[in-house]
Amino acid sequence: MLINIPRRQIIGGLLVAALFAAMIALGLSHPSPADDSSASKASGFSPYVTKDGAISRPTDYRETFLHLGSWAVAKKPDQPVFEMHNVYAPLEDIRAYRKDGRFPDGAVLVKEITKVSSDKLTTGQSSWSTDNKLWFVMIKDSKGRFPGNDLWGDGWGWALFKANEPARNVATDYKTDCLPCHIPAKKDDWVYVRGYPILGGRTPAR
Ligand code: HEC
Repeated sequence: MLINIPRRQIIGGLLVAALFAAMIALGLSHPSPADDSSASKASGFSPYVTKDGAISRPTDYRETFLHLGSWAVAKKPDQPVFEMHNVYAPLEDIRAYRKDGRFPDGAVLVKEITKVSSDKLTTGQSSWSTDNKLWFVMIKDSKGRFPGNDLWGDGWGWALFKANEPARNVATDYKTDCLPCHIPAKKDDWVYVRGYPILGGRTPAR
């Protein structure tokens, strides 16, 4: 077949193919994996996870997820709140937890870290969330889908996004970036459930 095609056309075709490959490699053809339902899905597992286990930040969580709870964080007990940690999850994941006492496969937890303002209001000295600084994301994987991938293990995918580059996961190894700090919550499948009364106050079944 190639014999009849002029050389220029073949080279042109190759260039187009190379361009497409480069676009795919650079992610240009899929600017937002969260919006793409075909290529980025790992067999229907999660819209936020590619087949290779790359995790993207849910961008619509404030519109479509429920607020699980908030942590007001001060550096020391006698110091003012300097960050708010607001946690969100999809309604169906919360419903499943309330029913079964554990997060279902594919469940998503988003923790946004915000800066804080504080003022003397009619309620007292009040602090509230302002700009986003970070987003932590956990995605439940009860099947161990990505062995050997450093973002996956102990039943979850783990990711971190920064406000100056919110589309890029900067976590590289959950065992050093995340797990040590979550050890106090190990018995609750690594989640600080006591801060989320909406879950129904149940301890997860393992
Ligand atoms: C400095 C310790 C620390 C590190 C490091 C850390 N976490 Fe957490 N994480 C916590 C604590 C404590 C909470 C709950 C209380 C709070 O936010 O103040 C929490 C809560 C969360 C939540 C909300 C659900 C829950 O477990 O309550 C998510 C999601 C989360 N972390 C993901 C991650 C991911 C992903 C990483 C790694 C990229 C990570 N965390 C690294 C300490 C940490």
